[in-house]
Parts: sequence; structure tokens; C-alpha cells
Amino acid sequence: MNVEEILNEHLEMIDREIKEVFRGHDFPEPLYAMMKYHLGWLDEDLRETSQYRGKRFRPTICLLTYKALSGVYTKALPAAAAIELIHNFSLIHDDIEDMDEERRHKPTVWKLWGIPQAINVGDGMHVMANLAALQLKDANVTSQKIVEILAILNRTIMRLCEGQYLDMSFEEATDVTVDMYLDMVSRKTGALIEASTLVGASLATEDEGLIGHFRDFGKNIGIAFQIRDDIIGIWGEKGKAGKPIGSDILRKKKTLPVLYAFQKAGRQDRQVLRGIYGKKRPTKGDVGKVLRVLERAGAKKYSQGVAERFEALAFKDLKVIRLRNASMEKLGALANFLVRRSF
Ligand code: IPE
Ligand code: IPE
Ligand code: MG
Ligand code: MG
Repeated sequence: MNVEEILNEHLEMIDREIKEVFRGHDFPEPLYAMMKYHLGWLDEDLRETSQYRGKRFRPTICLLTYKALSGVYTKALPAAAAIELIHNFSLIHDDIEDMDEERRHKPTVWKLWGIPQAINVGDGMHVMANLAALQLKDANVTSQKIVEILAILNRTIMRLCEGQYLDMSFEEATDVTVDMYLDMVSRKTGALIEASTLVGASLATEDEGLIGHFRDFGKNIGIAFQIRDDIIGIWGEKGKAGKPIGSDILRKKKTLPVLYAFQKAGRQDRQVLRGIYGKKRPTKGDVGKVLRVLERAGAKKYSQGVAERFEALAFKDLKVIRLRNASMEKLGALANFLVRRSF
């Protein structure tokens, strides 16, 4: 089974569960319609559509983790929906923070309806995530377990906010190290992917050792995933990625390839970088210059190598888990894809 099939296999059950959360929430209608636009259910005119909805890979790995341990999906579905809603609320706010105008091949929420309403849409979706987790009650999960899952999810969102804070504060900083970068991405992106396997495992078993291995698998794949995202943001194709290429450089993001070039590029090239990153606002022409410095420094190869090192760590945990079934295979295939993807 290829990765597209694995993702497609789970897409509809995830969206069905998310739609369940929206039931009974319909006023004011445009508020919910904008959320549905972001989720890919409505188009710009807020009419029903079937368009690209994103990979939905976080809920998929939550479901696969749970199924690998239990043989079914049932109890993990509300948690999976919550995780995808957290992801989507964070994207709506992230696109405001990064001033990005396109995501999933279409205009971002703030671009269409303005920043104030986009903040409301993101806030609303954040609450929808907690409401989704409360649907665990209908799946016969005990109240104690639900509190445990809600605690994990809320701690995760806090870490995501910490990471987003650091990501923004690094834009103007010139002393960011690779270790600081890894700490930042493990929060802004790693935390939610780690939570996806942690929650799936915590719903299925009380075996702390087993839960720990699934958790660490998610954590390391999460870091590798973000490094790949940095690479796509510089060398990707807009037609495939569905989001702007080069905007990280314009915003002076301290991505891994850039940090590497700051350290390892030749003397002259480092001076070029320092000049550009010392400006208030780099220009489109500067993006080209930075690209050439990154190429000469071998920053892409280095960054992909680091991503693959985290992938190898993730696979170590997957191996230690002595489970052999189709869900485990699918988790491995997804992990492999996430570190090599182009969208
Ligand atoms: C993008 O995440 C944001 C990051 C954390 C890098 P995805 O690449 O999972 O976005 P979608 O949901 O598939 O659009
Ligand atoms: C996204 O980080 C992280 C969160 C949304 C929490 P980025 O800003 O690097 O991701 P993209 O490139 O916009 O998807
Ligand atoms: Mg962004
Ligand atoms: Mg960002």
C-alpha cells in the first residue's frame, strides 16, 4: 500500500468525526463557514466543494498507533479529530504570524477575511478541538482517561505556543544555534506529532514502556518532518507544496539550512548572509543571493542528513516495539514519506 492510499484510507473517517463536532454550532454561520473553508469543505464563496484538505497525517498516525495496539480504531477517533483541529487552528494563526498568503493551494483565511476575523476563526477552532476530545465520552472512554488525554493535548498546545514564540523571536536574532533550533522545532511542530502517537498509545494500553516508545517515535519523526518542511520552504515547488516558497528567507526565519550556512559557508558568503540577515526586510533579490550561498555551502544535503538521523532514531523505537501487523507497517511507511515528501 502506498502512502497516498494509507492517507486516503483514513481521511473520510477523520472528517466524519470532525463534522460531528460542528453539529449544533451554526451561529453566526460565517464564523463556522470560515473554519470549514480552512478545513477544505467549503470554497472561497463558502459553497460546498471537494478540494485538497491537507495530508491529515497526524490523526492518521494517532489512529494507526491505536489500531496497532488494539486491532480497531473506535476509541481513537475523537482524539484523532481533536489533533487535526489543533493542527488547523495553529495553521490559521501561523499564517497570520508568518504573513503567508497561501496554504493548501488557496488563499489563507486572513488573506480573504482579514486578520481580526482569522484570529476568531483560529480561536474557535481551538475550542472545537477540546470539544472533539470530549466526544471520547461517546466512545466509552472513562472520565479519568478523558482528563488524561485533555491534559496531554493542552500541554501540547502550550508547547506549540512556546515554539511559535521562539520561531518568531528568532527572526530578529543573529545568535541562534542548531541546538536552539532543534528545541524550537520540537515545540512548534514536534510536540503535536509526539502527542499523536502518545494519545493513540495511551488510549490503548497502560504499558508505560510501550507508550514511551510510541511517543519517542512520534517526537523524532516530528523533528525530522519540520526539517523537511524547511527544505521544502526553500527548494520546493509551489505547485506541489501549495504554499509560498522563499517566504522563510524573506522573513529571516532561522531554518536549519540557513543556520548551517551561517556556520559553514566560506568567509565571503558568510558576510553576504550577515548583510542580508542584518537588514530590516530582505528583498526578493536577496532571496536569490541567499539561495546561491546555501547551494555552495551544501546546506540542503546537510539538512536532509539531519532529518534522516532523526528518522533513524524514530525507527529504532518502532523496532523495539515487538508488534508485527499492518498498522505498524503503515506507520513505518508514513514516517519514511514524511522525511522525503515534496508537499
Ligand atoms: C504544515 O503541516 C505545518 C507544519 C507543522 C510544518 P502539514 O504539512 O501537515 O500541513 P497539511 O495539514 O498537510 O496541509
Ligand atoms: C508551522 O511552522 C508550525 C505550526 C503551525 C505550529 P511553519 O510556519 O514553519 O510551517 P508552514 O511552512 O507555514 O507550513
Ligand atoms: Mg508558517
Ligand atoms: Mg511559522
